[in-house]
Amino acid sequence: MPTTLPFTSPWLLAPMEGVTDPCFRDIVLERLDPRDLGGAYTEFMRVSLLPIPEWKLREWLGARRYGQPVGLQLMGSEPGPVAATADAAVCAGAPLVDLNFGCPSKGAWKDCAGSALLAYPERVEALVRACVAAVGGRVPVTAKIRSGVKDDRRLEEIAKAAEAGGAAMLTVHCRTREEGYRDCADWGRIARAVAAVKIPVCGNGSVETHADLERIRRETGCTHAMVGRAALGNPWIFSGRDVSPADAARFLLDYADALRTRRKFRDLGAAGRVKKLLFFWTAGGLFEGATEQAREEERYRRLREESPGRLWSWLEERAAAVVTSC
Ligand SMILES: Cc1cc2nc3c(=O)[nH]c(=O)nc-3n(C[C@H](O)[C@H](O)[C@H](O)COP(=O)(O)O)c2cc1C
Repeated sequence: MPTTLPFTSPWLLAPMEGVTDPCFRDIVLERLDPRDLGGAYTEFMRVSLLPIPEWKLREWLGARRYGQPVGLQLMGSEPGPVAATADAAVCAGAPLVDLNFGCPSKGAWKDCAGSALLAYPERVEALVRACVAAVGGRVPVTAKIRSGVKDDRRLEEIAKAAEAGGAAMLTVHCRTREEGYRDCADWGRIARAVAAVKIPVCGNGSVETHADLERIRRETGCTHAMVGRAALGNPWIFSGRDVSPADAARFLLDYADALRTRRKFRDLGAAGRVKKLLFFWTAGGLFEGATEQAREEERYRRLREESPGRLWSWLEERAAAVVTSC
């Protein structure tokens, strides 16, 4: 069974539904050196009673390949169809398969998938085990958990269940389901998972800056770190590179272009996706203003912009901006 993880650096881009599709991932992966960004994950694919066909998994993975691996994430509750999908994912070219035990949505909860399974460590183990058996050592199977449902009392038990099932790496999003995305990330929980298992642990939750990547490793003993929302606001967080307003604007324009040409988004849909990033955006001094408050007002003005054309014109203007230094 390969336990060797294919990542090219310890820093990973988190799976994010509605964002980390091939259009977004490709633009990030083509800009970042494999020594900085070590790998990424797809958004989760929901597996119900029937396995997902290989062609759909291929589409989810996207056609382009980079130096870094992109793991395909699955979320389901029944070992049979999830394992059959994991097998098909490998046939579709996935270099690793990840299982989602963290999704807090009501839909997942109702179907006893995602974070609902954290209440049943034996089911976490069974799902991981079934997928590990199905992929038969061709690629590693990893698992991503939250720290618990309402509290973190069973964290070690859940981590050990994933390990016992054969997970090659465990990502720990340090919030519980009940904590949602609130700003109360407790990295001590990641350290507890590290102490509980022998497999590599990837720390996740409120990594906000490039320096935090090393800090989370130092403070918790995790081997890898995963960045979610901060990477939506600054895709260069993995390299620590300070980019220009033009780099930032070009990223967003290329993203809109990919959505329109590859996914056939209309202008309004593409603008909606770009605004989703603008909500988090911190890179490149994109928003102008003499004070923090003025820059935040500028952000909200752009978020309220109703005309995609005006949004593109603003970004084109910023993309053409020349940075002058004195
Ligand atoms: C918009 C959005 C979508 C997400 N979708 C997924 C997903 O598909 N699979 C998953 O395991 N986690 C998902 N997450 C959780 C993130 O992967 C990550 O665990 C979480 O945001 C905490 O990391 P952060 O504090 O760096 O953002 C999502 C988070 C956000 C904000």
